[in-house]
Amino acid sequence: MKLPQLSRRALQTPASPIRRLSPLARAARAQGKTTLGLNIGQPDIQTPPEFFEGLEQFKNPILAYEISEGNLELRKAWAEFLQRSSAWTIAPEHMLITMGASEALVFLFMLCCDPDDEAIIFDPTYANYMGFASITGVRLRPILSLLDDGFALPSIEHIAERVTSHTRMILLCNPNNPTGTVYSREETQALLDLCEERNIFLIVDETYREIVFDGAKPFSILELAPQSPHVIVVDSLSKRFSLCGARIGCLMTANEEVLQKALNIAQARLAAPTIEQLACAHMLRTISPEFIHGIRNTFESRRNALCTAAAKIPGVKMHCPAGAFYTIARLPVDDSEDFASYLLTTFEDKKETVFVAPAGGFYMESGQGQNKIRIAFVLEEAKLTRAMELMGKALQMYPGRAK
Ligand SMILES: Cc1ncc(COP(=O)(O)O)c(C=O)c1O
Repeated sequence: MKLPQLSRRALQTPASPIRRLSPLARAARAQGKTTLGLNIGQPDIQTPPEFFEGLEQFKNPILAYEISEGNLELRKAWAEFLQRSSAWTIAPEHMLITMGASEALVFLFMLCCDPDDEAIIFDPTYANYMGFASITGVRLRPILSLLDDGFALPSIEHIAERVTSHTRMILLCNPNNPTGTVYSREETQALLDLCEERNIFLIVDETYREIVFDGAKPFSILELAPQSPHVIVVDSLSKRFSLCGARIGCLMTANEEVLQKALNIAQARLAAPTIEQLACAHMLRTISPEFIHGIRNTFESRRNALCTAAAKIPGVKMHCPAGAFYTIARLPVDDSEDFASYLLTTFEDKKETVFVAPAGGFYMESGQGQNKIRIAFVLEEAKLTRAMELMGKALQMYPGRAK
């Protein structure tokens, strides 16, 4: 039977590169292998009990819609938590609660760009930005950052040259997924100056804001420019509170027009989930900022274990990340997708193997990810060390090593 035609948007939206090899991992597990999962950014840390306490407090006889801009108590609790933990804050009326950072990003692609308008991103990039651009018809213009430079931002002059009359926004992820790079105040200030000068939006995805290492202080672009109409921050409770399934994020800006138009879009999707919002409000009101310190220390110890173990593998160059829980490593192979498949289908050591994400799906510039992988260090240290040991052994046996 002939199938009805789908939209170009549907046909062009890529599958998630993180999940592409999942069927191979399932098959490996079905054969009794343990797969150490470094492929996906799902923290393994326990969700705070304060969230579950909050869930239990819901006793209303009717589960009604929340207001479209998000529960006011949640916005107040979030703003107060920021004040307690980071010493900066935001007015609750400058926040709009969304279903995760993901929905905030889709809203912003729609709000800031018309179809065929351009958004600048930095390559490699969080792969779902490509999906969001595809479903909203926005053209992404990638600017390459290099492993050998620690994935630092290219010079501001270079970035400025890439802003055209079609550019509507620059999207920065800080700290960065997939590189773990943390951009400095000076770098973000320079981007902000450029955006103000060219009158375009600077959107900063701060999903990993508090996960920074080596004594660095978490920092938001909103500390630099709390009133700038050009700045919009995307935030999320998913990662730093191990709350991925709650689907609670927000966008924050002092730009009243953005807030008003975002609310119109939010009204069309009615509301984010009621009970999760209330539970998050309870959690943010009652949790100690120490929880965040614990998360930061945990990921820093893991980062240290990972980088120490990776440094022992001949031919591997891993970027030592300063934040988030990701990094990119260059391997001595010609095709990292083939190597990642080999790890799952062929290699094993004492019935164990590793599941990594080939980096190709994180790069818009083709070929750049060919010999790289992205690692999410969401396992405890001993497992990370073992995972690197397995990768080293697999690289010795792998027939596709780079010549
Ligand atoms: C950079 C970045 N932004 C946004 C998201 C989406 O987060 P959320 O669960 O809040 O939708 C993720 C999830 O991995 C991410 O890494």
